[in-house]
Amino acid sequence: MAPDKPIVAITRYIPPAGTAALEGKVNIRQRPDKYAPPRDELIRLLQGADAALVQLSDRIDGELLDACPMLKIVANMAVGYENVDHAAAAQRGVWVSNTPDVLTDATADLTLAIILAITRRIVETDGYMRQGAFKQWEPMLWLGSGLQGKVLGIVGYGRIGRAVAARARAFGMSIVYHDPGVSPAGDDRGLDLDELLATADIVSLHCPYKPELHHLIGARALSLMKPTAFFVNAARGKLHDEQALCTALKEGRIAGAALDVYENEPAFVAGLAELKNVVMVPHIGSATLETRNAMAALAANNILAVLGGGEPLTPVNKPAQGK
Ligand code: 8YV
Repeated sequence: MAPDKPIVAITRYIPPAGTAALEGKVNIRQRPDKYAPPRDELIRLLQGADAALVQLSDRIDGELLDACPMLKIVANMAVGYENVDHAAAAQRGVWVSNTPDVLTDATADLTLAIILAITRRIVETDGYMRQGAFKQWEPMLWLGSGLQGKVLGIVGYGRIGRAVAARARAFGMSIVYHDPGVSPAGDDRGLDLDELLATADIVSLHCPYKPELHHLIGARALSLMKPTAFFVNAARGKLHDEQALCTALKEGRIAGAALDVYENEPAFVAGLAELKNVVMVPHIGSATLETRNAMAALAANNILAVLGGGEPLTPVNKPAQGK
């Protein structure tokens, strides 16, 4: 360990571009594990470190920051940062950064992939093939639901929501959106949430999680959706009430759902996996090698910027006083 170089703690094994950006410039203190550290281990790892490269599963709060007073930056390797108390960090002179932009395309691609998977019954028919059940082509075999001419309702019209809209337009869909922070844009129509839910053929969530948005889509919201409509969530699981969603799917009150995120990951409510009208993937919105490398490199570069005396490239807070 070079005594003159700052220490960067990395809470898990990360894509190689992240460590490559740091190598030779800092002392890297990395847990090699693929799973998140327990709280006590996390604190020990970050104690004495000048910077931390963390994941969504690492909870960074005032108590942890007080136990790790050397930290100058917490770089989250995710665009969402609800795991980090950024206000507590700012009060203590600690920068917090995230990884926007670099994962927009991958997340939008995944959203379209699961929309197509549920509407065209890709998972069900894959199982049908593997069981050897395909005996003969039939005019009415495995009919799905087309996208052309349908309405996509996007809740949260930021970077990812707009990237999903661009892809959906290429499939012939029209777009309505709900986002209180966005003024009307182009051909897309801004609606209040209830109106969007009643209008859309597919409702897709793309907003960050905040406590005031907990269970944004619950029994009431689901009851406003058309019985032919699909619900899609590749944002955050706590935005939907999973029990209410499971019941609505079971009772056929909506046509189906495609989920990348779950209310209490990695768990999901009992009964969900038995339903045929749901497609489930394990939080893989940003999971391409290229994107995860770009996220790791951006997190590393945020750290290097702060350790070099500057500001992060993509900060989410602004400490009153730097360290
Ligand atoms: C993954 C995400 O959870 O960036 C986010 O907010 O949800 C996803 O990109 C992230 O890759 C975890 O490291």
